[in-house]
Amino acid sequence: MNNRIQIFDTTLRDGEQVPGCQLNREEKIEVAKELEKLGVDIIEAGFPISSPGDFASVKAIAEVITEATVCGLTRARKEDIDAAAEALKPARKPRIHTGIGASDVHIKHKFNSTREKIIEQAIWAVEYAKSYVEDVEFFAEDAGRADLPFLAQLTQAVIKAGATVVNLPDTTGYLLPHQMHHRISYLFEHVDNIHQATISMHNHNDLGLATANTIAGIQAGARQVEVTINGIGERAGNTSLEEVAMILNVHKDLGFTTGINPKHLFPISNLVSNLMGMPVQANKAVVGANAFAHSSGIHQDGFLKHAQNYEIMNPEDVGVPSSAILLTSRSGRAALRHRLQLLGFELEKPELDKLYTRFLLMADERKMIHDEDLKELVG
Ligand code: KIV
Ligand code: ZN
Repeated sequence: MNNRIQIFDTTLRDGEQVPGCQLNREEKIEVAKELEKLGVDIIEAGFPISSPGDFASVKAIAEVITEATVCGLTRARKEDIDAAAEALKPARKPRIHTGIGASDVHIKHKFNSTREKIIEQAIWAVEYAKSYVEDVEFFAEDAGRADLPFLAQLTQAVIKAGATVVNLPDTTGYLLPHQMHHRISYLFEHVDNIHQATISMHNHNDLGLATANTIAGIQAGARQVEVTINGIGERAGNTSLEEVAMILNVHKDLGFTTGINPKHLFPISNLVSNLMGMPVQANKAVVGANAFAHSSGIHQDGFLKHAQNYEIMNPEDVGVPSSAILLTSRSGRAALRHRLQLLGFELEKPELDKLYTRFLLMADERKMIHDEDLKELVG
């Protein structure tokens, strides 16, 4: 089996659905160009039928992107597919992403339909999208809660209708990793034509398991992952691109590769956070402000002896300028000595001990000790 994982970025579609995070056309183009530099394979540029502005943005992105596939989302409706096909006309590599609910709760309470009718509509949508573009991705919304034999039937039907990719979203972020692994493995065992399409993971983070479920899906055979920068997206968000990319990079033993150049991860995280006005939590894996910051005495001492004692990635490899040693009342003498040396102060042990006592008093009071505070301490 091919072990190259296709990175499908949906920052500009699922990510941009976050209230207050809407971007204008120029901002979307800027993000799309940076995503291409980062090395993503597919950019989901928007949902063209949703508004004239989104239609125009998808079209503008389709005009400027040269390497990545540009994708537009649609429901399984004629007017949606027509709009996506029109917006994607300028794309060198266009993809239509169409689909419909697959769980009984969606079939009954969203579509007031039946499993049989859902399959018919899914086949129609794929065939209709195929009349415009070769590359058609089908999403089985809420696949995470769908009846598994029905999901197998639906997957088989849309592949037969020509879907090149079948996306099996855990729309509500419900599954546990072993359940995701089981579901994808089941489909590989029960869908005869499954190797004619790429199986895609699209997981939401309602229980904080989006990344873990995505990795479980890859291990069971999925070869495309749908992710966003900083994990932004509906409710608790989507799978975070930087987490999946670095898991596959750090765990080379798993044997998977991506086209991502990790050096762009931190810069694009900042760009998206600034443009969307959506701060990144400080303890966010890979790109958070504290991801490479060491603050307790034991960790600082170990880190100063050898970075790998407390770091599994080099900050520079993901575009973070350097690790940081933060001085707080939890810091030890090693960190204090290190910071003083960087400021040009070499203290003998008795002097350092005395200063350390005063340092702790100051740190209890001020919480964080900065270079100016240290200069004041040394006098
Ligand atoms: O979460 C989801 O199911 C989606 C689909 C529209 C792909 O975003
Ligand atoms: Zn989604």
